Amino acid sequence: MAGGEDAFHRLAAAFYEGIAEDDLLRPMYPEQLEAAKRRLALFMIQYFGGPGTYSEERGHPRLRMRHAPFEVGMEARDRWLKHMNAALEKAEIPQPAREVMRTYFTNTATFLMNVPPAMPIQSGGK
Ligand code: HEM
Repeated sequence: MAGGEDAFHRLAAAFYEGIAEDDLLRPMYPEQLEAAKRRLALFMIQYFGGPGTYSEERGHPRLRMRHAPFEVGMEARDRWLKHMNAALEKAEIPQPAREVMRTYFTNTATFLMNVPPAMPIQSGGK
């Protein structure tokens, strides 16, 4: 539905073009982006039902643990999603796969936040 493995390699490539230009996110990533691009592509291929090469090479994804070294606040989350949403268009991922992926990325990026937003969310008070 997404367009096979090639679609995910195109998606990862388009995503990292955005990362390369991002002043907040770029410094978090390794100097050479090629290996990171491949890790993301293989992860997406595996997650969306393709071959399990990612886990053969990297083990269990454990995404929250693997993101612990990086400060993922609201701004980082929003920027990551902005680049991924632009990449979904640029890589011409067809519907309805695009919408399924957009929802998954939005939820996962929120889940990966590991520092609180600048403005605390009001609990309603006691
Ligand atoms: C919320 C904002 C996010 C930030 C700031 C962020 C940042 C990073 C950084 C700096 C890396 C290290 C790059 C590398 O060497 O591979 C990384 C790795 C990775 N990220 Fe994210 N990420 C975010 C969200 C996500 C989301 C939503 C997903 C998946 C749905 C994801 C999947 C991955 C994967 C699969 C890796 C490689 C893990 C490994 O095998 O080492 N990330 N991320």
